[in-house]
Amino acid sequence: MKGVILAGGLGTRLFPLTKITNKHLLPIYDQPMIYYPIQSLVNAGVDDIMIDTGGRKSGDFLSLLGNGKDFGLKHLNYTYQEGEGGIAEALGLAEHWAAGESVCVVLGDNIIEKNIRAAADDFRAQGKGAKILLKEVHDPERFGVAELDGEKVKGIIEKPKDPKSNLAVIGIYMYDGRVWDIIKDLKPSDRGELEITDVNNWYIEQDAMTYEVLDGWWTDAGTFESLHHAAKLIAESGANHMS
Ligand code: DAU
Repeated sequence: MKGVILAGGLGTRLFPLTKITNKHLLPIYDQPMIYYPIQSLVNAGVDDIMIDTGGRKSGDFLSLLGNGKDFGLKHLNYTYQEGEGGIAEALGLAEHWAAGESVCVVLGDNIIEKNIRAAADDFRAQGKGAKILLKEVHDPERFGVAELDGEKVKGIIEKPKDPKSNLAVIGIYMYDGRVWDIIKDLKPSDRGELEITDVNNWYIEQDAMTYEVLDGWWTDAGTFESLHHAAKLIAESGANHMS
């Protein structure tokens, strides 16, 4: 399974911090934000990784990460998203590199405490379809929210005003090789983006989606509150650190 980290977008919710640089180069406690999703993939046994950058100072990813030696990698792949047409659009930029193959996608601002190796191995064994990870939150309206029906996911609604559960869909997704064609058929949402939630709902409609509830804490880092919260969590737990 290949890995794609989505680190594009303009990070407007973090202005002026992101006025001159890419959000994922900002620090979270003692490391640049982009270090955490790379480590999450490496910990899950994924070592063939593409970083999808965009926006300002994207060349700095190369200076910072090089070939990924600090993570025990031999090589890193890079691509560039113009504008911010959505998470699914950004993922589609990796098609030429991963066409027909399964992929683990990590949003560049998603930080987890523990290792998702078991979930990745379950998906490898599953062999086809998709897998998402869910986490209970107190503010589900900020996220994609899953409605469950026993062992199955019934549907996902993106940032619902009236959430049907408190289970957020976290920004780590595993897809089989069909994902590349699904993205091509997507239409932009009301906010003008190709939504990853539409990709997930496609797999749900095909009865091909599994889920796991994440063990350990999870946070995004795309707002001042969550960026601060992420730094605090890392400082207190030392989670996801390389050394
Ligand atoms: O954090 C988990 C949530 O992430 C999910 O629960 C939602 O279903 C999902 O839509 C997403 O929500 P956000 O609105 O918080 O995503 P955001 O626009 O902040 O983008 C998250 C990351 O995705 C960002 O750090 C970089 C990448 N991205 C985003 C966009 C819109 C790109 O690479 N390109 C893009 O065009």
